[in-house]
Amino acid sequence: MKFTRIAMPAVILAMIMSGSAPAVHAQDQDPGPLPTHVTDTASVMDIPAAIPTKASPRIEALLRRMTLQEKVGQLTQAAGGRSKTLNSKLTPSELDRVRTGKVGSYLHVAGAEPLRALQKVAVEESRLRIPLLFAMDVVHGYRTIFPVPIAIAASWEPEQWHHTASISAVEASNSGLHWTFAPMVDVTRDPRWGRVVEGAGEDAYLGSIMTAAQVRGYQGQSLSGAGTMMATTKHFGAYGAPLGGRDYGTAEISERALHEIYLPPFYAAMQAGTGSYMTAFNDIGGQPTTGNADLINGMLRARWGFDGMLVSDWNAVAELINHGIAGSRADAGTLAISAGVDMDMMSLVYANDLTKAVAANPRLMAHVDNAVRNVLTAKERLGLFDDPMAYHDLAAETANIRAAAHIVAAREVAERSIVLLKNSDNILPLAANAQKIAIIGAMATDVQSQLGSWRARGDKTEVISILEGIKAAAPEGSVVAFSAGAAPQSPDESGIPAAVTVAKDSDIVLLTIGEDYDLSGEARSRSSLALPPSQLALAEAIFATGKPVIVLLTGGRPLAIPEIDKNADAIVMTWLLGNEAGPAIANIVFGKVAPGGKLPIAFPRTTGAVPYSYSEYPAGRPANPDPVKDSNRFKDLPITQLYPFGHGLSYADIMISDLSLSSTTLSPGGSIDISVKLTNRDNRPGDETAQLYLRDVVSRQAQPKMMLRGFKRVTLQPGESRMVKFTLTPEQLTYYAKDGKWRAEAGRFDIMVGASAEDIRQRGSFTLSEGVESAVPAAAIATKTEVK
Ligand code: NOJ
Repeated sequence: MKFTRIAMPAVILAMIMSGSAPAVHAQDQDPGPLPTHVTDTASVMDIPAAIPTKASPRIEALLRRMTLQEKVGQLTQAAGGRSKTLNSKLTPSELDRVRTGKVGSYLHVAGAEPLRALQKVAVEESRLRIPLLFAMDVVHGYRTIFPVPIAIAASWEPEQWHHTASISAVEASNSGLHWTFAPMVDVTRDPRWGRVVEGAGEDAYLGSIMTAAQVRGYQGQSLSGAGTMMATTKHFGAYGAPLGGRDYGTAEISERALHEIYLPPFYAAMQAGTGSYMTAFNDIGGQPTTGNADLINGMLRARWGFDGMLVSDWNAVAELINHGIAGSRADAGTLAISAGVDMDMMSLVYANDLTKAVAANPRLMAHVDNAVRNVLTAKERLGLFDDPMAYHDLAAETANIRAAAHIVAAREVAERSIVLLKNSDNILPLAANAQKIAIIGAMATDVQSQLGSWRARGDKTEVISILEGIKAAAPEGSVVAFSAGAAPQSPDESGIPAAVTVAKDSDIVLLTIGEDYDLSGEARSRSSLALPPSQLALAEAIFATGKPVIVLLTGGRPLAIPEIDKNADAIVMTWLLGNEAGPAIANIVFGKVAPGGKLPIAFPRTTGAVPYSYSEYPAGRPANPDPVKDSNRFKDLPITQLYPFGHGLSYADIMISDLSLSSTTLSPGGSIDISVKLTNRDNRPGDETAQLYLRDVVSRQAQPKMMLRGFKRVTLQPGESRMVKFTLTPEQLTYYAKDGKWRAEAGRFDIMVGASAEDIRQRGSFTLSEGVESAVPAAAIATKTEVK
């Protein structure tokens, strides 16, 4: 067996060697000194005119009574603690800031009782008695922790997102919180980007469907209803497209890519009613989104019609100076507020520098007033003016945290998120007879990691580890032996020989390797998608024993694992699965539950193969499998992905057949039904996800090779068949044309239905009879889907 050891980037190695792997969230770090060119003055800028808005009579009356200081106070979000020490900054002097109307919102706070006390100060002791808005990153659970977002996306079941987001809202809103900074909907085609873990992967359509489900889950029927909270769809713009995958970096993308790939989930969120958006840290072609009036006020508000509030990301208003588009803090504030950013998270530019800017630039006042209207309207929609204490009931908090039904949901979503990448000779599920099972790898007991990238109030002692899960579920009489071998971020490989001994003494090895929680997330981009060196060394030693090896791969991003693919008997992508990781994985391993997750982003063969998407344009010389031909490919790699978008195996053999179309022509105003039959030819139940792809064959602007336009995951009993019907409308065929309209030209459209982007089982085509025009991003339109 031959292995190539792929070097760990020097910087990570250095951190490992010094034992100082990153532990704090990037947002808790001091952003450092500002550049020296910064002045203290506000320059008179040519700012865009404010679009007049109007709030309810109650808000308008309040606005008339507010001083400029009180207005900027409402636009200020302060940290009530740090992400790991919530409420720790709520000191007596901080309460004085509330009394004097200097703060409108807090983040990194939690708890029905402490937040009741804080709210009491605002509504009883401040001049205008305006309630505070309490926010937190409740991203994949509050106290009950669900799988990381990329994993939930792998379920290809929007229902899972809806359910888990609504549970998060119940737990968080009963703990005093009004507002979550989720969903994170940034599409990315570059898994080097650490925040790939927080989103729904590489696809605009899948991302849009998952986004809408989350927004509806968090917000319920009404923002003022019990057990709901306001969603923040983030990070508005194209945060998922930083050059080289380096976090916070420039998105150097075309207008078409912006509209067709990155913005659709944001549009889907608006249609689902998102109460707020957060702007991205980064710039698009040199225009930082936090100061981009065309994108925020121009497109999001004027063109799309969004009427909620916008918050900046942490310190991002001041960072307009670092971007080099503002020469002073007052300038930065002027740019952000006139672009449409209502609330300043943590830079204190609005609080401290905006009055100066308004004095230099009186036209700014209309922008300030609009922003105040948006913030106060959000508070009104949340019911805070009617009952500011509605979110602060200790008894409800106690009753709702980790309720039994929440734990059941956590296990179910974890099971549905797991993706079976490889299963040679159907080695999985493991036989029901007693055997000697070796569990090798430090990730098997790393409960901290299972809490993932945004753990909110998750508690690692409430996580069931992989080792515990397997021990509890192993067939009676089995012997389960564990050896850690080596941990992902440790250079210490001295435990590997002991792990080999344990493996040698077993019938089968479950090898738990991959990334830990701290290798993905904010400011955790990696230059290499290879397994961490210690994990590869461990795998190499275990494979050399010749025992059958099932790899349970952990982490928050696609990894380039050709060596594992070659040598493992089975590979299961187990992500970071939250509280119920252990039982969920065990249920899949022992076949109690059938795996059915599908990759929401491809796994490349090597790091150099990214960025990549199945949905690229075809090129004049489309990729050809024959390396001798000059084509759009790497000479040294096959043209396929290691595991493509949409890939995921089942324990059952499920056929997709009988494609039928309701017509050969689609006309404006009409629709077309596309049906396929799914049949389970096996003697065990299984899941398959029918994936509908589309291609516009000839158009004056090149069109992607394939675009996902529908999907449905179906569970089939042995021998069972079900029909899946997708209904498409002409608007779903459109692309973003040069005139800024969504258009489709008349002509042939090919359709493909398969089990992944590289496993197409059925093909057909129809003709669009006439060109159509639309105002809606095509990928944001949900395809009507029926199962019979
Ligand atoms: C920075 C992150 O980019 C954002 O996603 C998060 O919501 C804020 N910090 C607040 O924690």
